[in-house]
Amino acid sequence: MKVFVTGATGFVGSAVVQELVANGHEVIGLTRGAAGAAKLKSQGAAARIGTLDQLDILRTAAAESEGVIHTAFIHGFGNMNLKTRLNLFAGALKGGVVQSFMRILGETETQAIDAMGKGLSGSGHPFVVTSGILMLPQGRISTEADSHVNNGPNRAFSESAALAFVPHNVRASVVRLPPSVHGKGDHGFIPQIIEAARKKGRSPYIGDGQNRWPTVHRVDAARLFRLALESGEAGAKYHAVAETVIAFREIAEIIGSKVGVPAVSCTQAEASKHFGFLSSFVGLDNPSSSEWTREKLGWIPKSNSLFEDLEKSDYFKAG
Ligand SMILES: NC(=O)c1ccc[n+]([C@@H]2O[C@H](COP(=O)([O-])OP(=O)(O)OC[C@H]3O[C@@H](n4cnc5c(N)ncnc54)[C@H](OP(=O)(O)O)[C@@H]3O)[C@@H](O)[C@H]2O)c1
Repeated sequence: MKVFVTGATGFVGSAVVQELVANGHEVIGLTRGAAGAAKLKSQGAAARIGTLDQLDILRTAAAESEGVIHTAFIHGFGNMNLKTRLNLFAGALKGGVVQSFMRILGETETQAIDAMGKGLSGSGHPFVVTSGILMLPQGRISTEADSHVNNGPNRAFSESAALAFVPHNVRASVVRLPPSVHGKGDHGFIPQIIEAARKKGRSPYIGDGQNRWPTVHRVDAARLFRLALESGEAGAKYHAVAETVIAFREIAEIIGSKVGVPAVSCTQAEASKHFGFLSSFVGLDNPSSSEWTREKLGWIPKSNSLFEDLEKSDYFKAG
């Protein structure tokens, strides 16, 4: 299949590209520049130069493909072009930085998904879009049938933008990723928690630390994206969850022992000082199941667990 992949040079997307190429697919990856194009070429993929706000490029690339996997996301200022930055500042002056930032994330994502969906409309081709597990209902094991809760930052907008194309004969589906997608090259929450422990001399968890996070290895997540592309159902929401339940305290303890600092209980207010913006997530209790996903797509996670990766990989080398 000729597959257009956004975020193709990223932590998750580059594993998706490798998985697709290894399984005989032809990959065209979106990237903003020459370095990304060279990386894609070295992986056996072609490059399409463009950004998430070049909607004509996205629509055309999707229309020329036989399937799309969307993993790109503007996580921060560095991912924004000048026009978007100016838009961010203008919004910040009116309603505050955080609100403006969230608006830009939502608008960029939904307009990009809309452009690719239009390119695919009427084709019956697959369109697999990335979402997240965090902010599904808390305090119980969430499933693929659950929707995000409204009172926090979540990726409901990614899901609704993608699934809006199901009635337009697009085989649109969603892959929800856990808060820790781990493996070589991880630059997500876990490295940031390690860095905070190093800098501040302790590895905290909130309260008794029994709040739970699910996890997945990037290679297993990539295999799920491929399976969703090849045989996912229109409208499905798949969970890339290898480990349903890990108490955050256990994560804090292993990080503490590796860094050589104590793992300690703290209050939400202390967590805000220690973790900064991450503090909104470290206390979430979001265990999640992938039973339905495994049954439907025959997905079996095979790679290292988070703790195996923390024991054996490069997570602590810089220290
Ligand atoms: N990593 C995790 O632990 C984790 C957990 C939950 C959910 N997720 C989600 O998984 C997806 C992938 O995350 P990731 O960690 O792999 O991201 P990443 O490593 O930061 O990669 C981001 C990718 O997006 C592309 N990109 C960034 N800004 C762009 C723009 N303005 N226009 C076009 N492309 C742009 C980059 O391409 P170029 O630099 O080549 O242009 C890069 O390939 C995201 O939706 C993320 O929210 C990740």
